[in-house]
Amino acid sequence: MDDKVTLHTLQKMKANGERITMLTAYDYPTALILDRSEIDVLLVGDSLGMVVHGLPNTLAVTMDDMIRHCRAVARGAKRAYLVGDMPFMSYQVTIEEAKRNAARFLSEGGMDAVKVEGGQKIAATIRALVDVGIAVMGHIGLTPQSISAVGGFKAQGKTAEAARHLLADARALEAAGVFSIVLECVPDRVAAHISGEVSVPTIGIGAGVGCDGQVLVTHDVLGLFDRFTPKFVKRYARLAPVMQEAFEAFREEVRAGVFPAAEHSFTISDDEWAAFEEELPPGTEE
Ligand code: KIV
Repeated sequence: MDDKVTLHTLQKMKANGERITMLTAYDYPTALILDRSEIDVLLVGDSLGMVVHGLPNTLAVTMDDMIRHCRAVARGAKRAYLVGDMPFMSYQVTIEEAKRNAARFLSEGGMDAVKVEGGQKIAATIRALVDVGIAVMGHIGLTPQSISAVGGFKAQGKTAEAARHLLADARALEAAGVFSIVLECVPDRVAAHISGEVSVPTIGIGAGVGCDGQVLVTHDVLGLFDRFTPKFVKRYARLAPVMQEAFEAFREEVRAGVFPAAEHSFTISDDEWAAFEEELPPGTEE
């Protein structure tokens, strides 16, 4: 296994033009496989609300949900850089609350950094987190925690004015001290331009090939979540039918008495069995 990925690794990758890979992780076995696959960054995303817990969006995800999933991922991944997603309202109310909650991701969740959504408006909070020693990843463009105000999951930065606003957001995050910025659902030319303008690595999701790295939701990559599939998703496997086939085979074998077979069963010696039968209370003999 290669050395642990750090902030410096990611910064060096940007400087050398090596693209960064990031995928979401929510549990121990998946984290183990992602780590073996040498994915550079694992994000314990609040997308877990939708793809693991079946919620309609990310808004009801709590700090305790996030910390539990972070701990499972941290037990499985030893190489990747680990980022925990701060859930809705865990950092927007006061800076003090943001610090306390962000610290939990590191001290209880075993994460290396946190991610927060928002641009210029959240820059002061990010500065405060960085000042107390917490590494922060920014996230601009489509920010799913704002769907109530934005009116749904829509691409951002599609007008000249909106693109300029996004660039200003990216610069504000860089000045506030983020180590990286996620650009979600941003036109490819706008994302490439921002990536060239900021010194920290950008990680795109629906933001074209001009970003310094790419992230996807692992359940989308594996074909495990099909309630809806955004345009930017590429499925690299179709695990849902594979799982269904296994579950149906189990069902059929149990119904037919084929499973468990002898090799899946424990035995008792003939002597012990004879002794057991001898001592059976009257009326229970075979
Ligand atoms: O929660 C999440 O999975 C995310 C990624 C889509 C960037 O924020």
